[in-house]
Amino acid sequence: MTKKSARKKLSPRTQAIHGEALSKSWEFSHHLIPPMTASTTFRLGSLTRGAEGFSTFAGPQDQDKPIWIYDRLEEPTTKMLEDQLAILEKGDCAVTFGSGMGAISAAIMTLVKSGQRVVAHKTLYGCTYSLITNWLPRLGVEHSLIDVNDFKVLEQELKNPKTRVVYFESVSNPILEIADLEKIVELVKTANKKRKADDRIYTVVDNTFATPWSLRPREWGIDFVIQSLTKNISGFGTEMGGAVISPKAFDGQLRVARKDFGAIIHPYSAWHILVYGISTQAIRFEQQQATALKVAQFLEKHPKIESVTYPGLKSHPQSKLARKYLVSPENTFAPGTMISFLVKGDMKRCQKFVDDVAQNSYAITLAVSLGLTKTLIEVPGFMTHSAIPESKRGESKIDPRAIRLSIGLENVKDIIGDLEDSLKRI
Ligand SMILES: Cc1ncc(COP(=O)(O)O)c(C=O)c1O
Repeated sequence: MTKKSARKKLSPRTQAIHGEALSKSWEFSHHLIPPMTASTTFRLGSLTRGAEGFSTFAGPQDQDKPIWIYDRLEEPTTKMLEDQLAILEKGDCAVTFGSGMGAISAAIMTLVKSGQRVVAHKTLYGCTYSLITNWLPRLGVEHSLIDVNDFKVLEQELKNPKTRVVYFESVSNPILEIADLEKIVELVKTANKKRKADDRIYTVVDNTFATPWSLRPREWGIDFVIQSLTKNISGFGTEMGGAVISPKAFDGQLRVARKDFGAIIHPYSAWHILVYGISTQAIRFEQQQATALKVAQFLEKHPKIESVTYPGLKSHPQSKLARKYLVSPENTFAPGTMISFLVKGDMKRCQKFVDDVAQNSYAITLAVSLGLTKTLIEVPGFMTHSAIPESKRGESKIDPRAIRLSIGLENVKDIIGDLEDSLKRI
């Protein structure tokens, strides 16, 4: 039984449900849903086949006729998830990891060596900041933190012969800045014209906040896309995972990095993300996004709120860029599900508000992570971004009083009701 490839002319909404329909990875033509595997190792019929599996692992020849050996090398359900992610992020291929951080560290490790340099945007998820500023220097990899939308500074950095990677988030966590992908790609391409092929600079973009339902960086010429699958793509707060969507030439190296560093996704998590997460992402994202706009509008009008940042508001400082880049695969404006805001007053008042929400709210929970069916609130300066030293948070433009909201699937009236009640009490 054969089914047409998902890459042909189908809507991403349909592709997200059916994927490649029948995988080359797994014999399950009598199942509607792929079976969940539970074997860490695989039966090999002969020594010849075993040896062939090892010698072809991560090479181009193993794509069509995979030989499964051991879960840390490759596994069929995971491979199906990877095929799906590559379709949705418009990449040649995808390699999954045990977490978003597993994906980010593998991508960077694959691209840089000691003596080379990573140029990164100065506002980054806290653990990515820590990876670049604490761990890479131990391996002799330099870094420079800049505003990637400051093209003069970026151009200068690209002239440095050590620069090998430009790293940033398409929509930054937590301040929701939009990176000007087209311009950045143009500058990197110009710099690469003067470099040899094996010395070229690569762009790596964390697309977790946007998700493929809001932005596909590969369509703008970005080389590598990162997703923390733990967030909106998984969506229910039950699985951890990460992915690097990459050009075909890097698929093998990323797989070897995963094999040797060991950050594999558990097949159980891969199955859940494949079966429940990906197929419902569009509808969850759209509903959460519609609610996010209403919540942002409510906050913007509230007398106790100092400011609100949401890419869907006209007041967003990069509203034009938001409308250019944050577009669903069906061509509608897709400003996302994340909001950042400041309550009027000092840190004490901010804390009083957040504690009040934590203790009294029904629909909103004080917790890290994002993109889930439940609405979450947190204070990045003290929680998710606390790895950034206090002295550097100003440079990263992270106001310690900034509050981050990740909108879930609750009724919008209940979310607004909880915020309103807590605002009344401060
Ligand atoms: C933008 C962004 N990238 C990467 C990560 C890391 O993902 P994970 O927690 O799956 O390792 C996070 C986690 O919050 C994130 O917000």
